[in-house]
Amino acid sequence: MALAELGSHDATLAVDGIAASELAATFGTPLYVFSAAALARRVARVRAAFGSRCEVLWSIKANPNLAVTTTLRAAGAGAEIASLGELEVALAAGYRARELRFAGPGKTDAELTRALAAGVGTFHVESLDELQCIAELASARGEVADVALRVNLPDQLAGARMRMGGQRSRFGIDAEQVPAAARLARDHAALRLRGLHVYGGTQCFDADAFVGHARALCDNAATWERDLDVRFDELDLGGGFGVPVYAGDPLFDLDRAARGLQALMAEHDRDGRRWFVELGRYLAAPAGVFLARVVRTHRSGGHRYAVLDGGMHHAAAAAGLGTILRRPPLLVAAEHLDAVEREPITVGGPLCTPADQFADDLPLPPVANGDLLAILNAGAYGLTFSPHSFLSHPRPAEVLVEHGTPRLVRRRGEPGDALRDQLR
Ligand SMILES: Cc1ncc(COP(=O)(O)O)c(C=O)c1O
Repeated sequence: MALAELGSHDATLAVDGIAASELAATFGTPLYVFSAAALARRVARVRAAFGSRCEVLWSIKANPNLAVTTTLRAAGAGAEIASLGELEVALAAGYRARELRFAGPGKTDAELTRALAAGVGTFHVESLDELQCIAELASARGEVADVALRVNLPDQLAGARMRMGGQRSRFGIDAEQVPAAARLARDHAALRLRGLHVYGGTQCFDADAFVGHARALCDNAATWERDLDVRFDELDLGGGFGVPVYAGDPLFDLDRAARGLQALMAEHDRDGRRWFVELGRYLAAPAGVFLARVVRTHRSGGHRYAVLDGGMHHAAAAAGLGTILRRPPLLVAAEHLDAVEREPITVGGPLCTPADQFADDLPLPPVANGDLLAILNAGAYGLTFSPHSFLSHPRPAEVLVEHGTPRLVRRRGEPGDALRDQLR
């Protein structure tokens, strides 16, 4: 399955028909490669499943690569941003500020001011404090800001590996505080209350749990509209659909989620209402691969070791950052996909920390210096999720394969980058 979006040829991993070995030879390693066709297919699949009433937003945080974001925009995804940097990426990718939605619990006054000045469409407000602040800033500018309230529902999103809600949370406004926030937004001349937002967590593998969470938001929305004399014309139901990134991970049942969501939308739909889901990993992860070469192999304590030129500073999630129980990522020998002979080998990167390890005694085809290994489903939370300045190795390059042609979309770093922006 993990290979499905990329492909293979003669037992060699390929991205849209171009062998990983050729990509590595041309662009060097460590290297991220993304498939434009796969990105577009992911958007098309989600849009087809959820239907025309539901808009699909790309969560830029998952991969702020400009070419990736441009591709996803061209494929029909809207976008949500969580920083001014992501605003820059979105604008450079061709989004208009007006169509963007700005979430995140720690937007500073200065960031909100810049976002207002840029004309960002809707602010997903995460606290009463932030709402008050947006009201004051918009008022001072003589503007009206469109806001949607991010709701922290009392029940956590079951089935999500990393949950961002529940009884108490840094994210979103507790459900019992929403009426006060909605009244403030309703009554303040500088605010226009557009809707509600919920996002309960990432790596959710339980389609029913996702739909249940969305249902809780819709039910609350109906109650608050009735009790508070407000309208929520925009309902962002979140996302966080799971993608296998570690051995043994399940698949997210998109069709099941879509059936549940379609039924829910039909119950709560009306003229002028807009529906959203916001997805990062689900759109991008399967469209990307991380390639690294074996630099050294050796034997210690009776175990085999391979040291790669890429590590946790480039692919932190694959090395288990943020997980409690470490499991190997979807690691394959890129040129020996069908090898039957396997021997256990411990694989890690070049950093001087035991944390820089991808797999412990993983059965792989016999590995030698110079061999190319690949981590699959690596198109999200890759380079920019990783501590790539740690140990001052140059940053890996990134390549997009589009219409059968690979092109460099992020230059490889160089050792001198370690001095960049430092002052004596
Ligand atoms: C508010 C919000 N929306 C969307 C996302 C994207 O989540 P995922 O990549 O799991 O789809 C995140 C991830 O943390 C988030 O915090």
